[in-house]
Amino acid sequence: METRGEGAGTLSLTGGTRLEGRVEVSGAKNSVLKLMAAALLAPGTTTLTNVPDIVDVDIMAELLRRLGCGVDRDVVAGVVTIDVPERPHHRADYDLVRRMRASICVLGPLVSRCGEADVAMPGGDNIGSRGLDLHIEGLQRMGAEVVNEHGYLVATSEQLRGADVWLDFPSVGATETLVMAAVLADGRTTIDNAAREPEIVDICTMLIAMGAHIEGVGTSTLVIDGVSELKPVTHRTVPDRIVAGTWAVAAAITRGRIEVAGADPSHLSIALEKLRSAGAQVDETADGFVVSMDDRPKAVDIVTLPYPGFPTDLQPQFIALNAVADGAALVTENLFEARFRFVRELARLGADVRTDGHHALIRGRATLSGAPVEATDIRAGAGLVLAGLVAQGRTDVYGVGHIDRGYAGLVDDLARLGGQVVRMDDAHREGPPMK
Ligand code: UD1
Repeated sequence: METRGEGAGTLSLTGGTRLEGRVEVSGAKNSVLKLMAAALLAPGTTTLTNVPDIVDVDIMAELLRRLGCGVDRDVVAGVVTIDVPERPHHRADYDLVRRMRASICVLGPLVSRCGEADVAMPGGDNIGSRGLDLHIEGLQRMGAEVVNEHGYLVATSEQLRGADVWLDFPSVGATETLVMAAVLADGRTTIDNAAREPEIVDICTMLIAMGAHIEGVGTSTLVIDGVSELKPVTHRTVPDRIVAGTWAVAAAITRGRIEVAGADPSHLSIALEKLRSAGAQVDETADGFVVSMDDRPKAVDIVTLPYPGFPTDLQPQFIALNAVADGAALVTENLFEARFRFVRELARLGADVRTDGHHALIRGRATLSGAPVEATDIRAGAGLVLAGLVAQGRTDVYGVGHIDRGYAGLVDDLARLGGQVVRMDDAHREGPPMK
């Protein structure tokens, strides 16, 4: 059985085997963390199912405990129960928030439930400056006073009131903060240019079951009429489309065949279409899809955009695919400026990638050659693992702790599909790669 650690570990891959078999995808990291935060909105016991076995859930559970909640987790069953007190505490400490940027999602529920939220400014993924201005401006429009004091965002409001908010960019996090603030606000809030990701739909679905009034779910205009109280519910987490998409690329890059179960292909339309353009066969099944690939992939251009555009969280995986594809591809990253940092690591495997601002030009190579590389964030880690699966010889991916944050049971699944992969803890590794 694989062990999970937060910062530690190395994956040692030997490339060249075709992956074949079936994987089961669990709930989305990017949803469950917000659902856990949304539990704060109702006193009593919230139950979440289809919860992935990832480190970030542990961090969020610890954060909720510090806020006064009782949190129980059954990892095998994928169930988390959260007992929320009548008066939660309102301070999210730096030691937890720095480990996970998504901790910021307690800001909205705390200010609306407690009238105050003190949330440390987050750290999290190493993928560029990720502002909070849209969260702050939206809360201010709803009547909150928000200041930055000693590294903490302090938001206060006796009673939030409904407001018209226009987001300059359809930010996932800001949309979630504002929805969670608006459901208990006094009056109507309209959020224009809201994010439309399946994870936004998921949290709105849970909030509606809790008694919230939200119109326009899944569109870019959300209209929320505040209610005076919400009740706790049981809710099943939406499948993780990024994990599902990563397995889809794994099938294509290894010229294998993977049945991805527990996934919703409609959440991955563009990515699966790109795989078809690369030459893969993609067939939908009753509870997911099958991807198979016989030949060398063809290069495919990618432009990342907010949903329903191509997801930035699958961009490194598709760069890895293009690195061994036939032809040249242009990849444009529109969300996170630093996401191309990982191509320096991919170059260590012999990939031919040139970046200029937010564009990357990848000229496919017939082969890559194994080398030590460092995962700098979750998705970069996934991209490097995929490249390692096809590189000749041995690839050691350092910084597996990043991958643990988003991929449950990765090593076990890879091994079951025929991948040659071993996990080593830091005590057994040879030392970091030269930079
Ligand atoms: C979430 C996901 C992340 C995914 C991203 C985009 C979680 C835990 N993470 O991140 O995996 O890559 O959506 O799909 O759900 N921005 C601002 N000001 C703000 C907020 C955002 O300028 O107040 C900018 C960010 O710097 C970034 C862009 O907007 O350039 C997108 O950010 P956002 O959609 O908010 O992503 P996250 O919620 O942080």
